[in-house]
Amino acid sequence: LNYLVEKDRRYIVDTLLTGLSRLEYRGYDSAGIAIDGDEEGQVLIHKQVGKVHALRKKINEDKSLDFTKTFVSHTSMAHTRWATHGQPSERNSHPHRSDPKNEFLVVHNGIITNYKELRTVLEKKGYVFESDTDTECIAKLAKYLFDSQKGNKSLSFTSLTKAVIKELEGAFALILKSTHFPNEVVATRRGSPLLIGVKTAKKLKVDFVDVEFGMSETQDKLAEDGENLLTPADPTHPKIRRSQSRAFLSEDGMPQPIEYFLASDPSAIVEHTKRVLYLEDDDIAHINEGELHIHRLRREDGISAIRSIQTLEMEIAEIMKGSFDHFMQKEIYEQPESVVNTMRGRVNFDNHTVTLGGLKAYLSTIRRCRRIVFVACGTSFHSCIATRAIFEELTEIPVSVELASDFLDRRTPIFRDDVCVFVSQSGETADTILALRYCLERGALCVGITNTVGSSISRETHCGVHINAGPEIGVASTKAYTSQFIALVMMALQLSEDRISMADRRRVIIDELHELPRHIKETLALDKELQQLARDVLHKEKSLLIMGRGAQNATCLEGALKIKEVSYMHSEGILAGELKHGPLALIDENMPVILIMTRDSLYPKVQSALQQVTARKGAPIIICNKEDQGISDQYRTIRVPSTTDALQGIITVIPLQLLSYHLAVLNGVDVDFPRNLAKSVTVE
Ligand code: G6P
Repeated sequence: LNYLVEKDRRYIVDTLLTGLSRLEYRGYDSAGIAIDGDEEGQVLIHKQVGKVHALRKKINEDKSLDFTKTFVSHTSMAHTRWATHGQPSERNSHPHRSDPKNEFLVVHNGIITNYKELRTVLEKKGYVFESDTDTECIAKLAKYLFDSQKGNKSLSFTSLTKAVIKELEGAFALILKSTHFPNEVVATRRGSPLLIGVKTAKKLKVDFVDVEFGMSETQDKLAEDGENLLTPADPTHPKIRRSQSRAFLSEDGMPQPIEYFLASDPSAIVEHTKRVLYLEDDDIAHINEGELHIHRLRREDGISAIRSIQTLEMEIAEIMKGSFDHFMQKEIYEQPESVVNTMRGRVNFDNHTVTLGGLKAYLSTIRRCRRIVFVACGTSFHSCIATRAIFEELTEIPVSVELASDFLDRRTPIFRDDVCVFVSQSGETADTILALRYCLERGALCVGITNTVGSSISRETHCGVHINAGPEIGVASTKAYTSQFIALVMMALQLSEDRISMADRRRVIIDELHELPRHIKETLALDKELQQLARDVLHKEKSLLIMGRGAQNATCLEGALKIKEVSYMHSEGILAGELKHGPLALIDENMPVILIMTRDSLYPKVQSALQQVTARKGAPIIICNKEDQGISDQYRTIRVPSTTDALQGIITVIPLQLLSYHLAVLNGVDVDFPRNLAKSVTVE
């Protein structure tokens, strides 16, 4: 947070802490904050293990803090940590400092892979480390490089930061504050997301300075708040295009009141401003006296330092829980609407056509490719498994599905005529991003399917589809899964538009897409029944097997993942075809089993799995179609609406989402923040 408007300390602290609490959904174990003290050059740091409200309490109880003290210009920073190096503890939480006088402070998201080497060098120079983190070496390195240039009066915060990040390996988004550069802030990134929210006063003149040619030009018209100030009206204008520095100036040339909010996720700042710019790798953003300048680490890399301002579409209400007890519950219940949002403007139910604007220019290239490779992690990976069969059937292009980490571990061969599809709710999962870069290097066409506009994956892919499910806060993904599922089916439908033989199949799927919201609502009405099942039958169990095959395999995997994630009960998704090759040994009268047995071409084979389980005294709970009369009364059933086989998985996953939710509540788990997990895993 950096601004040039008179604000009191209460505002500063509240803005930072509220921003942090909006980020808690990403996973947390401790939090910290750094604000200016009452004396010139004094910085106060507060840290606390646990949730942000614990930090808030600690700060509010600090009697020495005068919350009414006002500041005309102020830079402060805060961070929630999810441990990668070092235990969750106060000493390991950010901000980290260079020395007891807090000359350099840093907050960091990511991993510094060469921190051990840096630490060894700095320790030899006499630096005493206070934490076990990789981050601390950044603050100490900044001080070391600053001290080694003490006589250099022209050393700027930007050039110092350049020198620091030249030494860093790994992934980072960093914010730096220093007592040597009061009220300035530097932010930089490589591999981890970082954005800057800009809040301006109403009427401003925009000054474009052409650094190369020393000319300056002021646009005549006054720019209203909300206008895209950093994007020149005419980007082809030669002077503007070459400009490197932008200043917000009033008519008399004085900087206008302005606030900047730097964050790794827009939800932290959306209540202050919707106007954000995303930094690129090796950008160094410097804010001073109300001006924002973006510099490149290396001038010669040829990448422009102009970043345009985008307007976020997210509403604050969207990221609030509303009347639900948990975000996960809210997001499960949002699915009748979120699936419509995914299809809105894309599926024409009258003409039976699908148009994904983001893929339009690439359709013929994709149709000509030799194979499609889906790459994802976690729940997103399951959406790929769920849609692989229909993708292959409709497009007749071979599809392989890869877990991003394993894909990279194997250094999988990728060629120029491959199409690689990266599926990620956040668009920031480190493993998936690394796989994307690997494929870009090999010349494949890269397609992104994400829920987050402006995310790394949506920016770095050649083309793609936003699933438009709305912000997902619960760590366990629910509505993003069903929307990813639909986005992939829509992609297959569009790709197969030129295949006459598939016309009937496509028509049925599109008609059924139209019915989905109704089917989902009907399935959600099973909630009470599932709550009872969780309470009366499954809650005290140690383990749960979920079986099915074909189109239902993905539902088994995803259902088991949900149960593990939020209820901490062991659960395994089993391909029913593999039952006899091992898992059958687990079956007896005590082993809880859920069998998914919907009416599709594999129904007879699932019936035989049921017999195999029953013969070993197993008593599965069966998820089946509501009108199925062929299932004996001896089994407990969960009856769901029927749809076409390719979409049935969207319906069958919902009872398992609800079941996992109720098991989590019964087990007293903090449903939206299960232990050890993070919403967005931005480290490898
Ligand atoms: C984490 C989350 C999962 C998610 C996975 C992939 O592990 O806890 O819920 O499925 O990352 O995330 P992405 O944002 O790439 O879909």
